[in-house]
Amino acid sequence: MTQSDKAKDRSQRAVEMLGSAIDLKITELTESNRQLKRKIFDLYTIFEISRNFNAVLDYDVLVDTFLLTSLGQMGVSSAALYLLDVPEAGTLTLAESKGIAHEEQATRTIRIDGVLALFLLTEARPFTTADLAGRFADQPERVILDMFPGGLVIPLIFSAQLKGLVFLGGKVSGIPFALDDMDFLSTVANQFVVAVENARLFQSEKRALLELKEAQRQLVLSERLAAIGELSAKIAHEVNNPLSIISNYLHLCERSLNDPEASHRHLEVVRQELSRIARIVRQLLDFHRPPKAERVEVQTTEVMNSVLSLVEYQLEKKRIAVSRRYDGSIPAVIGSPEQLKQVFLNLIINARDFMPEGGGLTIEIETTDNNVRIAVSDTGPGIAEEHLPRIFEPFFTTKEDGSGTGLGLAVCFGIISEHGGRIEA
Ligand SMILES: Nc1ncnc2c1ncn2[C@@H]1O[C@H](COP(=O)(O)OP(=O)(O)OP(=O)(O)O)[C@@H](O)[C@H]1O
Ligand SMILES: [Mg+2]
Repeated sequence: MTQSDKAKDRSQRAVEMLGSAIDLKITELTESNRQLKRKIFDLYTIFEISRNFNAVLDYDVLVDTFLLTSLGQMGVSSAALYLLDVPEAGTLTLAESKGIAHEEQATRTIRIDGVLALFLLTEARPFTTADLAGRFADQPERVILDMFPGGLVIPLIFSAQLKGLVFLGGKVSGIPFALDDMDFLSTVANQFVVAVENARLFQSEKRALLELKEAQRQLVLSERLAAIGELSAKIAHEVNNPLSIISNYLHLCERSLNDPEASHRHLEVVRQELSRIARIVRQLLDFHRPPKAERVEVQTTEVMNSVLSLVEYQLEKKRIAVSRRYDGSIPAVIGSPEQLKQVFLNLIINARDFMPEGGGLTIEIETTDNNVRIAVSDTGPGIAEEHLPRIFEPFFTTKEDGSGTGLGLAVCFGIISEHGGRIEA
């Protein structure tokens, strides 16, 4: 071989070596490209799955979605999901399975403190069923492992607790699980267990809310019953007083039949007491006006003016000066003119009764934040601090001579509440 032949041979070998090195690189690149594609695909799938999981708060739907995803993505034909339903029970229970014969589901529980469960909790990663069957050949869970030949077991862990186990059968294609598959399944399982915990939390909050609502309903009902009981007792008491007075005076009347003047006096008392009973009954009836008494657009200033003209004469006689302060344009309110008239009248009569020596009565009507505010004030002694909490109670009165029923403000309260308004002193 000449010098130049040798040189040619060397360079040819160098080219060949370079060629095979390039081939190798291309194979490597193709492989890493394949892996990259798989990773992107997995990530995208995981993203989609986790989005689906997060949108679902129904426990059963979640479980179903998870199993179908695992089956579909991995190309396996059977799967089973064991979940920790009642933590105190200490067992994982079969929540759902696909592609397993019914009779094979006999093993429905796995002990959470069993060696298999503890092992998977510590390792916190998927294992092949073959590997686990080798390690735990004499354990009761072996039966389940054997139901998934060539398959995988994936632990579901949440805040360092084993919440469940997923069993997958071997791939239909017969190809064993790759590391990528295990990574993918682990991630999906993690997403799933978080979603399950969310759903649980949601369910238990929903339950708690329902219980709370029921308790509130009961409370309102029993409060209402108590209020009715209390009111009935008060009514009975209020009506009983005049009744026994009437009975006594009729008795006296009988005995003084030959003394017309005395009889007359006694009958006068009877008449007064009867009218007191009539007044109580009339006021009580006001409580029970049908709640939807005709509702129309009402000009509160007009209603107030018509009430004032009714009592004008009385107020004048008692030397009470009225001053009206109405805002420029007061919007109409929706309500019953008759009922509102009654409220205004009760307030004005109270003012009159508490200013026996005369004084001033001021009526203000103004618009505040789209509401109409009506204030009735007088220059009388005012309401004692300790009475304030009780003035809207039925039969609460400080009128000493027995002239008050104590129903006036209670009726006002009922009417204003029914109108969606507020009344305060
Ligand atoms: N303008 C007022 N000044 C002082 N106290 C008042 C005034 N309005 C109401 N009150 C207090 O509130 C109590 C309850 O009033 P409410 O109108 O319900 O009953 P009443 O006026 O006593 O009886 P009735 O309305 O049957 O005459 C009164 O007894 C009084 O103590
Ligand atoms: Mg009154």
